[in-house]
Amino acid sequence: MNILIRKISENDCNDIWKIEKDCFSDHHSKDSFRRELNNPLCAILAAFDENIPVGFINVWFVAGELTINNIAVIEKYRRQGIAEKLINAALELYPQTESAMLEVRASNAAAQKLYEKLDFIKVGVRKSYYSDPKEDALLMTKTIGGKK
Ligand SMILES: CC(C)(COP(=O)(O)OP(=O)(O)OC[C@H]1O[C@@H](n2cnc3c(N)ncnc32)[C@H](O)[C@@H]1OP(=O)(O)O)[C@@H](O)C(=O)NCCC(=O)NCCS
Repeated sequence: MNILIRKISENDCNDIWKIEKDCFSDHHSKDSFRRELNNPLCAILAAFDENIPVGFINVWFVAGELTINNIAVIEKYRRQGIAEKLINAALELYPQTESAMLEVRASNAAAQKLYEKLDFIKVGVRKSYYSDPKEDALLMTKTIGGKK
């Protein structure tokens, strides 16, 4: 398997949105991907296998802080290091990153394991943050400044 990671273009939006829809009960709209593409603070990177997107990450970079808004890998491609590669590619895209943060559903053990493997730590809880189904978010952060 030869996975290539690159920024997505308008042409990829449909495929990326299908991944989002398959992976999340409370998924964002197709239009929101197009809007995000035009947001200068946002980057959406996808992992491609033979030109087919199999996972993506959506991040914002503001004042030294990288926020991971969303990350997903289609089921067939999971546990092959793709999410790890996507997070590392986002960090490489913004080498000035001093810290990274994200929210994750309290029940999402797989994602929490992923973030812990990459040295994110749990720093707080946002009560009833998610809908469909309603659930708390755990806030996780990673400090990068000073390590590079
Ligand atoms: C969470 C998700 C993105 C992980 O993607 P992935 O490509 O399978 O993750 P990776 O293969 O890069 O895993 C890296 C590490 O994360 C941890 N991990 C990932 N999935 C795991 C699982 N199901 N159970 C336990 N640990 C897991 C492991 O430590 C793994 O390293 P290892 O395989 O060497 O043990 C994927 O499961 C997914 O898309 N889930 C649905 C969407 C979602 O929940 N997104 C997160 C929103 S906050």
